[in-house]
Amino acid sequence: MNDHPEKEAGAGEDEEHFLSRREFFIKLGTGSLAVAGAGAAVFAVEYLSPNVLYEPSPIVSAGRPDHFPLHSVTLDPRFGVYVVHSAKGFYAMSAICTHLGCMTVWKQDAGVIACPCHGSTFQRNGMVRGGPAPRPLPWLKTWVASDGEIMVDRSTIIPEESEYIQA
Ligand code: FES
Repeated sequence: MNDHPEKEAGAGEDEEHFLSRREFFIKLGTGSLAVAGAGAAVFAVEYLSPNVLYEPSPIVSAGRPDHFPLHSVTLDPRFGVYVVHSAKGFYAMSAICTHLGCMTVWKQDAGVIACPCHGSTFQRNGMVRGGPAPRPLPWLKTWVASDGEIMVDRSTIIPEESEYIQA
């Protein structure tokens, strides 16, 4: 026979309270491990994935040949290139000044390519005409694609006056 039934009931409550506290700490520990594991997984994925810069392709489509009248010099400011239609054919040049890298512009009235930054000027074939630019505007590899578009590879410099494309 129990002499202290209220004491026994109290012990049962303590045990129940103890078990729930244990469960709480188990859940807390499990949750902490899950968070730590997820964080480690994120860092592992970032560490293992290649650190790549996605840059636009250097190969661009300048347009159809009939967009460039004979004897025209056309700046495409999107790509920083000139497409020139000369009597010998088409060619493309970089529009980036060889002095300090400003974008040049074609001056139809004067018949020169001019740099607005420090006043360098270039002939329509890219040769330096005046100013501090140390080198001509580089000629770029150019070809006509199967769909008839003039393609320019901005990463491939070719010797000046070495290639004219017919289209
Ligand atoms: Fe063109 Fe200086 S950047 S002249």
